[in-house]
Amino acid sequence: MDQIESRKDEHVRIALEEDVRASYNFWDDVVLTHNALPEINKDKISLDTSLFHKPLKAPIIISGMTGGYHKAEKINERLGEAAEYFQIGMGVGSQRAALENPSLKKTYSIIKDLDIPLKIANIGASQLVIWGHQRTVEEVQRIIEMINADAVAVCLNFLQEVIQFEGEAEAKGCLEQIKLLADAIDIPIMVKESGAGISFEVANRLAHTNIAAIDVGGMSGTSFAAIEHYRAKMHFDQLHARGGKTFWNWGIPTPQSVIDAGEATDWSIPIIATGGIRNGLDAAKALAIGARCAGVAYALLAPAMKSKQETLFELDALLKELRAAMFLTGNDSIEAFSEVEATVWM
Ligand SMILES: Cc1cc2nc3c(=O)[nH]c(=O)nc-3n(C[C@H](O)[C@H](O)[C@H](O)COP(=O)(O)O)c2cc1C
Repeated sequence: MDQIESRKDEHVRIALEEDVRASYNFWDDVVLTHNALPEINKDKISLDTSLFHKPLKAPIIISGMTGGYHKAEKINERLGEAAEYFQIGMGVGSQRAALENPSLKKTYSIIKDLDIPLKIANIGASQLVIWGHQRTVEEVQRIIEMINADAVAVCLNFLQEVIQFEGEAEAKGCLEQIKLLADAIDIPIMVKESGAGISFEVANRLAHTNIAAIDVGGMSGTSFAAIEHYRAKMHFDQLHARGGKTFWNWGIPTPQSVIDAGEATDWSIPIIATGGIRNGLDAAKALAIGARCAGVAYALLAPAMKSKQETLFELDALLKELRAAMFLTGNDSIEAFSEVEATVWM
């Protein structure tokens, strides 16, 4: 295994074997107002929605997690089959590994021919800076083609880069590269954090580009500082292990980030709420505070590692919980649900 491959393998193994979640999940601070007289029938509730003009049977995106080492193929296949079954969106993990080593392409392209309504390609923002504009456009076209993507996520992961012992903490010129990319590519480009959130000020700067959505990827669930803490420990690197611990809970709580990014952009582009979504009730809370879709990563990782059946079960349960929350607030459509009353205690 080369360096990127073993890193990808370690990320998944650590996420499954250790507790790498932020110490507090801020979705617990959001409360939906119970409607004792809902006046709707649960059977008539529709979860139908759309993102980037692609119809989705539920406002859920399987967040990009993996690819780039051999075992990832099975994980992406199971996640892909579940996304196809429920007709929801799905992202893959950063595709850089396959750009550098074409023998790893299949670990992503396993989802290429599945009938998933919205497939999202993925590349780290620091790559854009390293490549410069012209090469970025060429490489992004390759990752789109690799999975037949309908959109591209540019992943902001500077928390990870700064903690990781082999990290590339080079962020100068990043916004400009994102801007140029969004102008050059004719499918939607979204910007996605990976666990540390997007602030009002950053969303405001992103709003001056042609990006099509922001996935706030906030703090509440998977902590990449925690993952890098355990990786550094595995490699007997005390310094970076310490850094990972110090920054374990770094970031903007996801609910706060959804509200801030929405307000900064005047809700003019879709805001996706990823980070700490454990179940359908958390997803319901995300929609209630304004998110267009909820993104789920960690909660689907262990099921996808086990079997297709477990993955289907987890998503089925999540969608049933979302429906239950809609029933208990008296809303039979996703559109109506965005008007629901929610109290945020933060
Ligand atoms: C093992 C693992 C690998 C990940 N790799 C990527 C990645 O390559 N690109 C990316 O944009 N996000 C990546 N993420 C971040 C997730 O997409 C998501 O933003 C983050 O985990 C927060 O969601 P969660 O709390 O539901 O896990 C990864 C997450 C996990 C758990």
